[in-house]
Amino acid sequence: MFRSSHLQEAAFPVAMTQRDAVNALHAQCGIYTKSAVVNTMLDAIGWHDRADLTQYRLLEPAAGDGVFVVEAARRLVAACRRHGISPNAAVLRDCIRAFELHPRETRKARANVLKALRDAGVHPSTCKTLVCAWILRADFLLSRPAELPFTHAVGNPPYVRWAKIPARLRTQYARSLPRAMIGGDLFVPFLDRALDQLCLDGRCAFLCSDRWRFMRFAEHFRAKWLPQLNISPQGAVTVEEAYVRDVDAYPSILVAQRKHSAVACLPAIRSGKTLKDYGFEVKVGPALGHTSAYVIDPEEDEVEEEVLRPWIDASEISDGEISWSGRRVIATYGDDGALIDLQAFPLVRRRLERFRPVLRKRSIVRNGASWYRTIDRVCSRDWERPKLLVPEIAKVPRLALDVSCTIPSHGVYAIFAPNDNIGPLYERLSNGGLARALEGIAPKIKGGYSRCYKRFLEQIAL
Ligand SMILES: C[S@@+](CC[C@H](N)C(=O)[O-])C[C@H]1O[C@@H](n2cnc3c(N)ncnc32)[C@H](O)[C@@H]1O
Repeated sequence: MFRSSHLQEAAFPVAMTQRDAVNALHAQCGIYTKSAVVNTMLDAIGWHDRADLTQYRLLEPAAGDGVFVVEAARRLVAACRRHGISPNAAVLRDCIRAFELHPRETRKARANVLKALRDAGVHPSTCKTLVCAWILRADFLLSRPAELPFTHAVGNPPYVRWAKIPARLRTQYARSLPRAMIGGDLFVPFLDRALDQLCLDGRCAFLCSDRWRFMRFAEHFRAKWLPQLNISPQGAVTVEEAYVRDVDAYPSILVAQRKHSAVACLPAIRSGKTLKDYGFEVKVGPALGHTSAYVIDPEEDEVEEEVLRPWIDASEISDGEISWSGRRVIATYGDDGALIDLQAFPLVRRRLERFRPVLRKRSIVRNGASWYRTIDRVCSRDWERPKLLVPEIAKVPRLALDVSCTIPSHGVYAIFAPNDNIGPLYERLSNGGLARALEGIAPKIKGGYSRCYKRFLEQIAL
């Protein structure tokens, strides 16, 4: 998405002016959110009129024509009415702060919010004061952080590959943003900066690409923020549901709350206690018993979607990054832990029937198991927690963080943390840390490969 610009830099052979750069960036990223998703996101962070919203401060870092601000303002005024508070400028001016880089869109956002406030019966002069105080025509990434932190943050930050950002803006960002957050995609420094300004216990909801969960360019972002956030189960959303126009994207809704006390550290290194002692759990991916029957290639869509889950093997895990090839596995067990009934999934049945002769020859079936059973239970619920994924055999032991509910193959181990606080361990073991931690624990085998078996991983000392 946001990739098909009709106003690319190439159209400006001579150095771009700041205005050209802003126009070009907006042309790439100005993909607006549908109001149903806006409502869902504001509900998810608790910005609703049952709360006394005058006590809170909401940040919208990339307002566009103001769809989030309109609804946030409507709810804010409704909360005033409900709680018997007069919606005047003195009470409301600090409750919302939105940024928009593009002058025309800023004007549109102000006009839309002005209308919403008027429709809600707010005094006309208060409406004008509020829209000017709330919606700033400014670059969120370059503006000074607000003096008071925000209690809520919401939005759909721009999604533009770093190399596609107009050079003039890219240079400004490279000069002033933390190096660890730049170079991948523009939405990463947006999230980082918004989260930096969120108070402890503050809540956020961002409609953004799901790539931050696994791509290498967001590695520092994950290492910094995963320990500090309680992330709500992934909000799945399709392009059609999310955006007002069609784009090439994999959107998801990140809903999170800043932990009150950021448990950013592992237990102090004391007695050489191990991962196992500290309650980390190591599990190998499920054995299927005939991979080609159960794993569906990216271009295949012959079975019911609801039983398919992302699946990866060791070849898709590099140090710090998952390069998912798009394969999915049939979850042969439902969330109730029972084998699925093929009557309910006729397309799965038709596919597995093709493999029936070979599936029946497996020893589990000869010993009485149902012919279409996988050797181990493949159940989505077992793999939903954040986890580190470690290939079982590796020339150099490596790992990647997974927060996208992927089911690993039988050649991959998953490490789960107590309370799902996996970020600090990831920080410790990424960038070669796993290889160092396994020295002296995991013996080398032929060809200099290491075996990263469960019992070796459990022995890693903290
Ligand atoms: C994906 S659109 C989202 C707009 C709106 N929040 C929505 O969801 O409908 C992103 C918006 O961010 C604006 N933008 C891009 N970079 C920005 C920056 N550095 N500071 C503020 N706004 C920016 C763009 O002009 C665009 O209107």
